Amino acid sequence: MNTRTVTEGATRVMVPILPEGVSFPPSYAPVFYNLEMELNRDINVAATSVFVNRIISQYSIMPSDVTYVDVLSASGIRGLRIANEVGVTAVLNDWSTEAYELIVQNIEMNNLSETTTSSCKDGNVLLHGNRFDIVDLDPFGSPVPFLDAATRSVVHLLEITATDTAPLCGAHLNSGIRKYAAVPLNNEYHSEMGVRILLGKAAFELAKHDKSMIPLLSHATRHYVRIYLHIGHGAKLADKTLRNMGFISHCPTCGFRKPEFGLAVHINKECPVCGSTTKIAGPLWLGRLHVVGFCEEVLLELEKRPMNTKEKAKKIVALCKEELDIPTFYDQHVICKSLGISASTMNQLMDALKGAGFRASRTHFSGTSFKTDAGVAEIKEIMRSIR
Ligand SMILES: C[S@@+](CC[C@H](N)C(=O)[O-])C[C@H]1O[C@@H](n2cnc3c(N)ncnc32)[C@H](O)[C@@H]1O
Ligand SMILES: [Zn+2]
Repeated sequence: MNTRTVTEGATRVMVPILPEGVSFPPSYAPVFYNLEMELNRDINVAATSVFVNRIISQYSIMPSDVTYVDVLSASGIRGLRIANEVGVTAVLNDWSTEAYELIVQNIEMNNLSETTTSSCKDGNVLLHGNRFDIVDLDPFGSPVPFLDAATRSVVHLLEITATDTAPLCGAHLNSGIRKYAAVPLNNEYHSEMGVRILLGKAAFELAKHDKSMIPLLSHATRHYVRIYLHIGHGAKLADKTLRNMGFISHCPTCGFRKPEFGLAVHINKECPVCGSTTKIAGPLWLGRLHVVGFCEEVLLELEKRPMNTKEKAKKIVALCKEELDIPTFYDQHVICKSLGISASTMNQLMDALKGAGFRASRTHFSGTSFKTDAGVAEIKEIMRSIR
């Protein structure tokens, strides 16, 4: 295999050379490496580092006492960075022999042989046979085939990427229902829908193993969703986690939406604002997407590390930190279009909502999205008043 060496963060990795003019790795590439995911990996290093620092001070242990597995490693870059830049004891696994051989070389090149081992197994077999403090899933498409084994194996932190955004966000409805046992709605907040459907699926899978979760950081960026889950243990905590599950009732006519907590709930079919029939999404996660203190520490960590995507990473995490804990965002352009008015600046809109006594924040999902505790009728009135 012809390779070239790339540097991400403080780690050097050999990756396959792509044919000229090709930027996304084609399916025939011997080993997968996607430069587009460097942003995801930069945030991953910072977030994992913050988490590891917390548990080493809690248990008075060394970073090398913490075990981490990159279940689907390809070149190994994700796990190599965690081993090298965070200092944990890592297993880098891929069932492809070509990937495995490249991982072996990459471990040597970074002088990580003492703390890092390569493995060439089916990821599910590896996870079913071992417990890891931190489990990282970064698959092609959906993480669902690995969720049972990952939730069984994980002790402290579960990190999941999903690139199957079409099923998660409702664009491929039946595929989403088959994989996630939930009905998404493909509307203006479909990206948040995807995050909440994935979190809901993770919560159910963990609950099977009497485990609970607190989402520390969750982001939908470009074509993927990434979540970081702090794991707790015991049936009581698992039951408590499942109290964050529920449905979203949404009116496609006027934009009204309401979270309905619970798994067997009575939901009013009639929109209380305009009288149209509502649509229902779920079951999905209605709880928090982020822990503010964790996001603050991730921002500090991003600041002090060498990273190629530092500014973009900081922007995403800072917006996550600011986001109000309210399920579903509004999109300024969608509402403006329905009212036949032009958009104001986001700052003007945030100020107007706050000036009227409501809470309001921008979100990381898109530049025109916002969260507020104002109802849809109040939002429209305020938007009209500032035009
Ligand atoms: C999206 S790539 C991983 C990318 C990598 N984490 C990164 O950051 O560059 C997915 C990898 O999973 C491997 N894979 C797919 N199914 C697997 C399985 N059941 N067990 C182990 N590896 C698997 C593929 O060979 C591929 O290299
Ligand atoms: Zn309505």
